[in-house]
Amino acid sequence: MTKISIIGAGMTGATAAHWLAERELADIALVDVVEGMPQGKALDLLEAMPVIGKDVRIEGSNDYKATEGSDIIVITAGLPRKPGMSRDDLLNTNADIVKKATEETLKHSPNAIYIILTNPLDSMCYVAMKTGGLPRERVIGQAGILDSARMRAFVAMELGVSVENIACYVLGGHGDSMVPLTRHSNVAGVPLNETMSAERLAAIVDRTRKGGGEIVALLKQGSAFYAPSAAIAQMAESILKDKNLIVPCSIYLQGEYGLKDIFFGVPAQLGRKGLVKVIEYKLNAEEKANLDSSAAEVTETTAALKL
Ligand code: APR
Repeated sequence: MTKISIIGAGMTGATAAHWLAERELADIALVDVVEGMPQGKALDLLEAMPVIGKDVRIEGSNDYKATEGSDIIVITAGLPRKPGMSRDDLLNTNADIVKKATEETLKHSPNAIYIILTNPLDSMCYVAMKTGGLPRERVIGQAGILDSARMRAFVAMELGVSVENIACYVLGGHGDSMVPLTRHSNVAGVPLNETMSAERLAAIVDRTRKGGGEIVALLKQGSAFYAPSAAIAQMAESILKDKNLIVPCSIYLQGEYGLKDIFFGVPAQLGRKGLVKVIEYKLNAEEKANLDSSAAEVTETTAALKL
């Protein structure tokens, strides 16, 4: 049976389990350090299955044994951002958590593909890959789908057009330096910059960059979880069904976009083995310069890791 384990059954992890169960993709294990909480959430979700008519086994545990035989491991364990706190403030605390989660899950699922969510995202992907000695195909960070979805939502609100017609691509590091590629984005094939004024587009780009912080400020405690966890379900589906969907993800680059030894948001094709291919856009000088400065930020953060 296909199985997905989620490490960290907090807001993002538990909501990911919800989206995944709705898709009836795989059995689900939820693991967290808080006693009783993953068990309680898993049982509650399991009891929803008869109502929505999905046959999914869901188990909650404080023990990594529950992850035995997983095809995909999702790591959302960590401390969320507090208002005013940058993603990078969390660096070494979350690195220790991701390290342990990777080591423990690999013992039970040596062939699993890892989807990482814990922030600071690009550096946490690096921790998982290095700790596990994993090939780059098996470590994929979730960030770009979320950032692009935020941009799509803002464009949809601006134009009153279905979200389905809107394609936006946000690349780069998952931080304030992310790079919304307006030239590659479009509304039903019409270039985005032809659909609205330069001022409105600039405002949408700015709101996209600050999208995570906007939610943190509103919630007062915790960070966004519905959209990040929906993105997990989309990635897991493409992997398990070998759909070869192309979505922006954090991928370990080996020369693509002129970058090496860095996890960075790029369009990636996802299939049954994880990463199938990095898609390289032709960028102009300004786009390349923006990506390079975002990469410099990610490199700086990752260099501060105490691995
Ligand atoms: N092992 C397992 N679970 C852990 C560990 C650990 N070592 N340390 C913490 N956790 C659990 C917490 O008990 C908590 O239930 O991780 C969960 C995190 O959940 P939330 O605090 O609700 O945070 P959430 O909003 O889900 O965000 C989790 O994802 O998007 C990122 O920035 C976000 O890094 C954060 C992560």
